[in-house]
Amino acid sequence: MKRTIVRTGTKSYPVIVHEALLEFDSLPEQLLGDDGRCIVITDENIAELHLSHFEKKLRSIGLKPKVLTIAPGETSKNSRQMLNLAQEMVWQEARRNTPVIALGGGVVGDLAGLVASLYLRGVPFVQVPTTLLAQVDSSIGGKTGIDLPEGKNLLGTFWHPEAVWTWVGFLKTLPAKQVREGLSECLKYGYIMDPAILERSTLIDPKNPLAEGNEIMELIHLCVESKARIVGQDVTDKGKRQFLYFGHRFGHAIEAIAGYKGITHGEAVAIGMTYESLIAESLGIATTGMTADIKERLRTLGLPYAMPRGITVEMLVEGCKRDKKRTGEGIRFALVRQPGQCVLEEIDPSKLLKILRSIG
Ligand SMILES: NC(=O)c1ccc[n+]([C@@H]2O[C@H](COP(=O)([O-])OP(=O)(O)OC[C@H]3O[C@@H](n4cnc5c(N)ncnc54)[C@H](O)[C@@H]3O)[C@@H](O)[C@H]2O)c1
Repeated sequence: MKRTIVRTGTKSYPVIVHEALLEFDSLPEQLLGDDGRCIVITDENIAELHLSHFEKKLRSIGLKPKVLTIAPGETSKNSRQMLNLAQEMVWQEARRNTPVIALGGGVVGDLAGLVASLYLRGVPFVQVPTTLLAQVDSSIGGKTGIDLPEGKNLLGTFWHPEAVWTWVGFLKTLPAKQVREGLSECLKYGYIMDPAILERSTLIDPKNPLAEGNEIMELIHLCVESKARIVGQDVTDKGKRQFLYFGHRFGHAIEAIAGYKGITHGEAVAIGMTYESLIAESLGIATTGMTADIKERLRTLGLPYAMPRGITVEMLVEGCKRDKKRTGEGIRFALVRQPGQCVLEEIDPSKLLKILRSIG
């Protein structure tokens, strides 16, 4: 069992990475406040695979779950679904001290977190992440959100959980494609913060992530430590937390240009890391060979690194200009000097276009 404390200034909470599901000495008091009653939000896939085991475990630690299930996938992260869940909580007579437990990937976590932050102006919340991406990234740091027809994650709050309970055993049923998505985010931590993560990520077999015994647990723990550290230094995403955008500036643009079809988030981030590293090399920020290193690791894990056909440099720059995280005239990138060292750099769109054209 590994434990990391996330410190937000106003609140601290543990992220527990465990080889067993819900084996704790004690529960945070806030979770037992409503005589143990709690609302579990999950999606249909996870419900089929893991819900009965999970419910049994919850009961064994004194909780009495009511389960609300959504359809799987990004299309559930919308305002209609958010309101449905809130209404169902009213019908279940959920009170101010009734905790919401998100059992799922980033979609369930973001949606359930938003509902928990809004219902009766906020109820206790727990993340139980079931995808690798959610275990290393989305369950930590308190960002919640839903998509609008105009764009992804446009409506959201910061609402930190009381705890994150991570069980590596969930990964046994996760398809290899989704494991790769998570590994792409692990590489991101390796490049921006902790080079030890790079070697560990490439040891994982996406088709059988639990094969190497404790390797996956160690990897998740190192990523959680990195995320906790960065969130602790910049809870509201105004500075250092933006290092986490590495690969995401181009990654988000690629996803949007592709209409969120045919390419997964993790794949887009993998390509984004490659091209952002090329930018860093041509600006003299990255050490020579950084991009070659990234490509080699992506190749080992079966992740893409070439720009998908049909996406031109002009489309890419336009896509970056539309990104919601943009504030001024320039486009802000998290660029890696060498593994473990990251800087934020504003690049003027016309200069970016020129560099991209020269890269080809
Ligand atoms: N809040 C944050 O800080 C943050 C950070 C990164 C990403 N995100 C968000 O996370 C979302 C993506 O998350 P995701 O990749 O986990 O997607 P997801 O939640 O859609 O899960 C992917 C698929 O895997 C299935 N699944 C989940 N766990 C499984 C398991 N153990 N076995 C088998 N199938 C399983 C799900 O049903 C779903 O079909 C995006 O909406 C993104 O915006 C949020």
